[in-house]
Amino acid sequence: MMAQLLIYCVLIAVTRLTLGREIPSPPYIVKQPPTEEVMFHVEKDGENDKPFYIECEASGEPAPTYRWVKNGKPFEWQAYDDRISQQPGRGTLSIAKPQDVDLGQYQCFAENEYGIATSNSVFMRKAELNSFKIQAPISLSGEEGKPFKLECHPPDGWPKPVVRWIISYTNGSLKAINSSRMTLDPEGNLWFSNLTKQDSTDNFMYACAATSPTKLEYKIGNRVLLNIVSTTASAALNKYPPEKQYVTKKQEVALRGKRVELFCIFGGTPLPQTVWRKNGNLLQSSERITQGNYGKSLIINVVDFDDVGSYTCEVSNGIGEAKWYSIDLRVISAPYFTKQPERQNASEGETVEFRCEASGSPKPEIKWIYNGKPLEYAPTNERREVSKDRIVIRNLEKKDTANYGCNATNYLGYVYKDVYVNVL
Ligand SMILES: *[C@@H]1O[C@H](CO)[C@@H](O)[C@H](O)[C@H]1NC(C)=O
Ligand SMILES: *[C@@H]1O[C@H](CO)[C@@H](O)[C@H](O)[C@H]1NC(C)=O
Ligand SMILES: *[C@@H]1O[C@H](CO)[C@@H](O)[C@H](O)[C@H]1NC(C)=O
Ligand SMILES: *[C@@H]1O[C@H](CO)[C@@H](O)[C@H](O)[C@H]1NC(C)=O
Ligand SMILES: *[C@@H]1O[C@H](CO)[C@@H](O)[C@H](O)[C@H]1NC(C)=O
Repeated sequence: MMAQLLIYCVLIAVTRLTLGREIPSPPYIVKQPPTEEVMFHVEKDGENDKPFYIECEASGEPAPTYRWVKNGKPFEWQAYDDRISQQPGRGTLSIAKPQDVDLGQYQCFAENEYGIATSNSVFMRKAELNSFKIQAPISLSGEEGKPFKLECHPPDGWPKPVVRWIISYTNGSLKAINSSRMTLDPEGNLWFSNLTKQDSTDNFMYACAATSPTKLEYKIGNRVLLNIVSTTASAALNKYPPEKQYVTKKQEVALRGKRVELFCIFGGTPLPQTVWRKNGNLLQSSERITQGNYGKSLIINVVDFDDVGSYTCEVSNGIGEAKWYSIDLRVISAPYFTKQPERQNASEGETVEFRCEASGSPKPEIKWIYNGKPLEYAPTNERREVSKDRIVIRNLEKKDTANYGCNATNYLGYVYKDVYVNVL
């Protein structure tokens, strides 16, 4: 009986060696959700419901099994009838007919007998765009030649809706506003450098439009009828010195890697010219730094730490005194790796080292993960030496095979890398 069992086992072992020539290895994540928040859409009437996917795939031998955690608790996706399913042989979840309850923080774990790999943890958030307050068009009047402001009160939404002003003709067609005399500020207000006769609404209205950045959906509201009152003097003789309309606050903060736009909107007649300086030096336009809104804004794409400084706009139109305004720009940053750990194959008796270094502002904190749990919960190992940005395991034994993850975090976000040591 014993002998038979033994032969049986040997047979199985031989078959596995000859057929599946794979070398055993802990799981390694090859597809996963992003670290940044992801939006999903909930349809009110169920029409046009697109499923969304939360990806998770790992290599490993034997093939790993998957489980999910949502908001820190095991996520039993089977409990959602057929609405949520897992792709066969993968961890990826497919969520059909997204609903409000799908909101939350999701994380995937891929496991086999050699280790547990941890995926990024992602916050799934519902995209929303509310409507404007229902309101009849309002009538305003302004004086020809003077600066003027149209106020928009856009509805709430997530992500923050993109706001602009449009011309809505009585025949039903819409036209975007694009004029050096009219500038939109980031809060949605439209600033006229001066008012002219053509700005009065004869066959059109001004309207504010809010658009969802992730969805082809827009809402219109805050309709305005504008009457221009003529001045007694000839319009051609109008002269108004530069007048501050909207400026970015004095202490502005930009996120590294993103785009920032600094505003200096001044009215006046003739149209004021704007010159931008950084720390006193004239700013040359480059591929990364350009002027927007006919010079009334400065756009910095892919912000980096060397963009920190004092930005000044000088505004003049030959009437009265030139005006200037300064903005101090500070740069903050989500963590990013400067050295990430790598997965390693090793033999018994060898030494392995995992390095993990990250930058960011504020300076990130580093947290190590062992087989899906904080390293503090790992079985003690006197051959393992852990410091802030390094783990060294000496004199390796077979049982040291495991997954290690490094999570660099600050309040702006995190970066995560999950690797393994495979002692063969
Ligand atoms: C890393 O740590 C942050 C902050 O504690 C946490 O929100 C995030 O989910 C962690 N990432 C992973 C992959 O565990
Ligand atoms: C308004 O400004 C424009 C551009 O500077 C100028 O051409 C126009 O004459 C001004 N109109 C009035 C009424 O002041
Ligand atoms: C509506 O009127 C505007 C201004 O007169 C014109 O430019 C536009 O072509 C018209 N659109 C339609 C559909 O008739
Ligand atoms: C606005 O008009 C200017 C000049 O006519 C043009 O170069 C620019 O591309 C237009 N901008 C938009 C957003 O349509
Ligand atoms: C470790 O070995 C496995 C199996 O042979 C291989 O797929 C993997 O690329 C190796 N990893 C490294 C870091 O050498």
